Amino acid sequence: MQARFITVEGIEGVGKSTHMAFIQQWLEARGVKVETSREPGGTPLAEQIRDLLLSPRTENMPEMAELLMMFAARSVHLENRIRPALEQGRWLLCDRFTDATFAYQGAGRGMDTDRIAELEEAVQGDLRPHLTLLLDAPVEVGLGRARARGEADRFELEAVEFFRRVRQGYLARAKADPGRVRIVDASGSLEQVQADLVEVLEKAWAQWQTGQGA
Ligand code: TMP
Repeated sequence: MQARFITVEGIEGVGKSTHMAFIQQWLEARGVKVETSREPGGTPLAEQIRDLLLSPRTENMPEMAELLMMFAARSVHLENRIRPALEQGRWLLCDRFTDATFAYQGAGRGMDTDRIAELEEAVQGDLRPHLTLLLDAPVEVGLGRARARGEADRFELEAVEFFRRVRQGYLARAKADPGRVRIVDASGSLEQVQADLVEVLEKAWAQWQTGQGA
């Protein structure tokens, strides 16, 4: 089967790490070897850009600089890791990708989404994830969990309203591209969320086996 690029999205604290491990296990139980990665980051250079993006600092970070650094990290990750992996038949499961830019920089910061789409095209060409799992939960649930984890990064310092816009931005992405972006309710019990994930994965798997679904 052709290697697939799967992304996992959602606001902070929706349980991405736990659910990514579960998705990886589910796929590996079906005989595919899956690498995991994350954005911003995923290679040594892109991880350095991640540090620049996430560390709280006293100097202002202009929104445009933030947007361009997200895409700079993405370009490094794509050329040095994602494309080579897919070309060599290795599956990649990635914690966030460009939907996060539309949600955080677009909906969250209010940046022009046409401009984000132009950068997406310039950096990625026609490369898009084959499947995106959007873990959705009310902002209060997610932020509560994220803040309990300890020191906040530059994004976690944002106000609740910012994350409400981000969540809506994600839901709008899912609505605009329902074939690729599947919403999974992440507010329930672990068993419930995993049951929903399995349902989505089984459907996608069946399509991939017949060569459908991008
Ligand atoms: P996390 O992966 O540990 O959640 O942290 C990454 C942070 O970066 C998170 O707050 C979301 C943010 N982010 C963006 O604002 N835009 C992006 O394009 C990506 C990939 C992440």
